[in-house]
Amino acid sequence: MEAAEPLLDVRDLRVSFRTEDGLIRPVDGVSFQVGAHEIVGIVGESGSGKSLSVMSIVGLISDPNVVIEGSVRYKGRELIGLSQSALRPLRGSEIAVIFQDPMTALTPVYTVGWQIVEQVRAHEKLSRRTARRRAVELLDAVGIPQPYTAVDRYPHQLSGGMRQRAMIAMALSCQPALLIADEPTTALDVTVQAQILELIHRLKDEFGSSVILITHDMGVVAETADRVLVMYAGRVAEYGTTRELFSEPLHPYTWGLYDSIPPLEGRRPTRLSSISGSPPALSERPDGCAFAPRCAYRFETCDQLPPLSGTREHLAACFLPPGRRRAVDRHPDQEAST
Ligand SMILES: Nc1ncnc2c1ncn2[C@@H]1O[C@H](COP(=O)(O)OP(=O)(O)OP(=O)(O)O)[C@@H](O)[C@H]1O
Ligand SMILES: [Mg+2]
Repeated sequence: MEAAEPLLDVRDLRVSFRTEDGLIRPVDGVSFQVGAHEIVGIVGESGSGKSLSVMSIVGLISDPNVVIEGSVRYKGRELIGLSQSALRPLRGSEIAVIFQDPMTALTPVYTVGWQIVEQVRAHEKLSRRTARRRAVELLDAVGIPQPYTAVDRYPHQLSGGMRQRAMIAMALSCQPALLIADEPTTALDVTVQAQILELIHRLKDEFGSSVILITHDMGVVAETADRVLVMYAGRVAEYGTTRELFSEPLHPYTWGLYDSIPPLEGRRPTRLSSISGSPPALSERPDGCAFAPRCAYRFETCDQLPPLSGTREHLAACFLPPGRRRAVDRHPDQEAST
């Protein structure tokens, strides 16, 4: 039962930078697929390579020292190696990106409304007036108060949170086949976060779009994603359907993430309270499992690199035997101290 070709098929993606001290490879062999009408969540600590993985897909890493290898097929077409002039028409029409930093997406010298109108009219034959009405509706939909006024504001005249929303409105305006949202809600308060996630769901339901959603927040993933990619130190630690990943997480790192689902109210923790230590620096990544130094279950074999193994629906890169995994009560700290 072979499924239809996925919308996006990423295989063995590697992102490296030439530096004075030699080559560093923040993304080291990442593979995942995004199906039609599917929301794929990417989670992992800061520096695990989430942003680089998705930005390299659409050619948005501007560093001249970058080297991108592997394969990224979008609707069957290979994107790695395409020139900027070949990628540009894809971005903003087929594939829209919401960045961590909204100023990268908005042009400072035009009003927010002008930018949305241009974007809408580039893809649909609409009069200026109709496109402007669409812009106001979109600004309203992303929770910008007084959208009739906001439409004529320049990006710098909006607060950070409002800019973030304006960028999201712009990304949604072309009804992309694939939306890449890199931490779209981090800077926003909880109510607006919920509105934005609702919009992302609507995009999928009403326009049949697929979404890659990067977030630190396992709670958001559980509510939003169909499939989850857990990244650790530039590699895939675990990959599977949300149902599988939450009902039977296979990787000790995921167990830690799971225990760190932030409270619904109050300040969200910036570090994972349930896993001690921090990810290895880029230059100090071990040859074997990168998580081993923090893992309460490590054993001799972990000084080798664990391959991703499992079923089509659920893969993990961990040497722990399945029987041992099932026996674990998923509280590494407690077990480690006994
Ligand atoms: N242009 C660059 N040159 C060298 N190293 C880089 C470059 N861009 C990113 N990196 C490094 O690559 C690693 C992964 O970066 P990336 O931005 O993908 O992390 P991330 O998972 O998105 O983290 P965050 O959650 O903080 O956004 C980091 O250690 C970062 O410092
Ligand atoms: Mg990032």
